[in-house]
Amino acid sequence: MRKNIVAGNWKMNKTLQEGIALAKELNEALAEKPNCDVVICTPFIHLASVTPLVDAAKIGVGAENCADKASGAYTGEVSAEMVASTGAKYVILGHSERRAYYGETVAILEEKVKLALANGLTPIFCIGEVLEEREANKQNEVVAAQMESVFSLSPEDFSKIVLAYEPVWAIGTGKTATPEQAQEIHAFIRSIVADKYGKEIADNTSILYGGSCKPSNAKELFSNPDVDGGLIGGAALKVSDFKGIIDAFNA
Ligand code: 13P
Repeated sequence: MRKNIVAGNWKMNKTLQEGIALAKELNEALAEKPNCDVVICTPFIHLASVTPLVDAAKIGVGAENCADKASGAYTGEVSAEMVASTGAKYVILGHSERRAYYGETVAILEEKVKLALANGLTPIFCIGEVLEEREANKQNEVVAAQMESVFSLSPEDFSKIVLAYEPVWAIGTGKTATPEQAQEIHAFIRSIVADKYGKEIADNTSILYGGSCKPSNAKELFSNPDVDGGLIGGAALKVSDFKGIIDAFNA
């Protein structure tokens, strides 16, 4: 079934102590069960401490990346199996910052997605175009090409992933896609999933929007039929803001 999800991406923010405090505060703030799934994706070193602190019935924990290899001599890398061993259930893969700064390609991301799934993690797979591509009206072909990383999955495996559309020009810029822009491209993404896997799987796929999402614009974005929640950066670092976004599903 398609789920509404609000997921936080802490990126490279918060010391371990600050991260623990943030997770505890969020756990307390969500005294009532939210009307959507809530996920926090933290730096690797926070995972083992944060996972047992939060009520798993309300908050899922995830990593922001994992290795494209299962194990072995890959100094500094963290495998999907290691992430899963902390109790984490999710992993963000293909974030535009990973693609732009760490050279993550369609082929590398295909390996990461497969390893995440093989270890029982739910990949939150990110796609999205840069400003020049949007200005050249190439956003559809860009996201379609990025989707090749997940289009080799079996229908059963594809059904386990979550997609996140994050236009790079909206990330951390304060410039949000309009609800119309978000709906248009989310509908396109769902249509290419339907072409590949059929309407039922497409209808059951959660597609999140990310990029300068805040309490003031979340409701309008999430009320679109093809926008199933958000992947939140900056606003996930402050409980009042993150909760304000989660509450977009309550009103
Ligand atoms: P901001 O919400 O800070 O724009 O970041 C979005 C993002 O990149 C989430 O993955």
